[in-house]
Amino acid sequence: METAYFGRRYMLSASHRLHTEALSDEANRATYGKCNNPQGHGHNYVIEVLVGGPVDAETGMVINMATLDEVVQTSILQRFDHTNLNYDPLFVNQVPTTENLCRAVFGVLKGAMPTGGLEYVRIEETENNFFQFHGE
Ligand code: NI
Repeated sequence: METAYFGRRYMLSASHRLHTEALSDEANRATYGKCNNPQGHGHNYVIEVLVGGPVDAETGMVINMATLDEVVQTSILQRFDHTNLNYDPLFVNQVPTTENLCRAVFGVLKGAMPTGGLEYVRIEETENNFFQFHGE
């Protein structure tokens, strides 16, 4: 089967604190460094979503961009933008590292997409860091 891909980037500003109850305060500081500071800190995340599938014979598209925007807006941006990730139910028992944010965004989006295969979610946390999750 032929597969074409469509990717799009979204901005998401959120704060977090990297801390796990599984470790002592000292071990948390040693593991996460400044990211363990109790007051937390913020990021302007760039979320890249890649959708793959056959090119629709009628529309000539893999997925309609407006459809993808709507799904990302309602399921991801409205939920996480300008929030503290630590307070989201998804991160009650998971450290909100960007690895885990990738997994969370992938899972939520996968469930919300009408059609089209979600190939991966890639998140740029800073100019120099990025994370990627491809599902199973
Ligand atoms: Ni951080």
